[in-house]
Amino acid sequence: MLIGVLKEARPGESRVSATPATVAQLLKLGYDVVVEPGAGAASSFPDEVYAEAGARVGSIAEADIVFGVNAPAPAQLDALKPGTTLVAILNARLDEELVADLGKRPITALAMDAVPRISRAQSLDVLSSMANIAGYRAVVEAANVFGRFFTGQVTAAGKVPPAKVLVVGAGVAGLAAIGAAGAMGAIVRATDPRPEVADQVKSLAGEYLSIESPEVEVSATGYAKEMGEDYQALEAKLYAEQAADVDIIITTALIPGRPAPRIITAEMVASMKPGSVIVDMAAANGGNVEGTVKDQAVVTANGVTIIGYTDLAGRLAAQASQLYGTNLVNLMKLMTPEKDGELVLDFDDVVQRSITVVRDGESTWPPPPVQVSAAPVAPAVPVEQEESKAKAHMSSGRRMGIVFSAAAALFALIAISPAALQVHLTVFALAIVIGYYVIGHVHHALHTPLMSVTNAISGIIVVGALLQIGQNDTAVTAVAGAAILLASINVFGGFAVTRRMLSMFSRS
Ligand code: NAI
Repeated sequence: MLIGVLKEARPGESRVSATPATVAQLLKLGYDVVVEPGAGAASSFPDEVYAEAGARVGSIAEADIVFGVNAPAPAQLDALKPGTTLVAILNARLDEELVADLGKRPITALAMDAVPRISRAQSLDVLSSMANIAGYRAVVEAANVFGRFFTGQVTAAGKVPPAKVLVVGAGVAGLAAIGAAGAMGAIVRATDPRPEVADQVKSLAGEYLSIESPEVEVSATGYAKEMGEDYQALEAKLYAEQAADVDIIITTALIPGRPAPRIITAEMVASMKPGSVIVDMAAANGGNVEGTVKDQAVVTANGVTIIGYTDLAGRLAAQASQLYGTNLVNLMKLMTPEKDGELVLDFDDVVQRSITVVRDGESTWPPPPVQVSAAPVAPAVPVEQEESKAKAHMSSGRRMGIVFSAAAALFALIAISPAALQVHLTVFALAIVIGYYVIGHVHHALHTPLMSVTNAISGIIVVGALLQIGQNDTAVTAVAGAAILLASINVFGGFAVTRRMLSMFSRS
């Protein structure tokens, strides 16, 4: 099949839906690719590099599959041949008019913005890849306007305090902004009504500001719900305090399918120091900040700049095109099971069903909802299990009994064993008790360093067993051989796992 890459019609759009690198991947899947002249120019991909990558540059009128970033303009839609599969960000949840228009055309339309947020679909999640870029770019835009360093410094000319950044909403964009601002040296604080993000904020060295309200609960869908009046009042108090203190606010708060919640009021903006900056990333959905002007940067009477750009991802055009193009390649991998350049739309697959707006001229929108569980749902505990749990807790007396009998058995064993063995048995018993309490209480996050310690212990076991294996006693040789085998598995397995973990953090 032939894939056509559109030249975007939307004014100011700098992204393109395929890059030379992704063209090569599409060719490997068995497709032919044709790119409209100048499609990648604004992303710094001239026509020649597409041709070098193996694509044809020319008209896409004959294409069977058409890739776009945004929904095509009406004239571009009219030019699609019947049976074409259109793949683009169609904004299907909000743009009812477009969905109705597409439903009348003899085509198949797939909305990349409707990929469900489930782990299997992460590699095609366009909203995440674009929000990640936009979050980073929001910090760059803020830094560009902000008249001071982000990082604190002690210089010969005086001490510079670090900038304070507040990120409202710790979703994909918010976390990217926290990471970028933290990397530049700022003090970063973040809020979110989903308490499960607290650890993610902390892992990026941010401070999570929690709002103690009964409405706050772990989200079952991975998205926030609209909050009630109680939460909103507490939230307003917190933001009023923070606005007067911080230098930069980046707002990313969004509830899917709803206008963005209004979070930062005009009074809060008025309380900010002159020179402060606000980046309202939700400007496209109405904005989180009173006074945001969509697609513009405005300066308030008290000298606060409010940035409402809606093309933040596009401001890193080459990066955004590369990630979007890769998301499309991953979709094609999913939909080309035989890798033969033939697209197969499988409605039994929840991802493919969710993104299909129109199938062969028939509207299939909206798709059935997909349950995306952000936090493991606690399984219902049957009554009997509860009872047995209670019994388990109740039997601490029984546990003491077991401990005392084990100790008595050990003493008896020591009493009848030869003198040389007594010391070893005592050390062995102590090692079990101390090992149980020390290792049993190690936090999961520290299991990798713990593994290195157990590697060292296993090393000692190997040395001890090597010294014993030469004895003329078959039983001793067999036990020593087994000890060497088991300890070696621990040593080499431990190194292999540690190496894998370390490579996750290496930059090359
Ligand atoms: P997301 O849905 O992953 O994150 C939104 C976050 O806001 C969630 O963590 C949610 O819990 C939080 N939130 C909801 N209500 C809140 C409240 N009252 N207070 C604090 N936090 C609240 O969305 P994602 O992908 O991170 O995108 C964030 C925003 O950035 C969206 O509005 C999106 O449209 C926008 N965006 C803007 C771009 C631009 O160029 N300006 C580009 C890409 C995304």
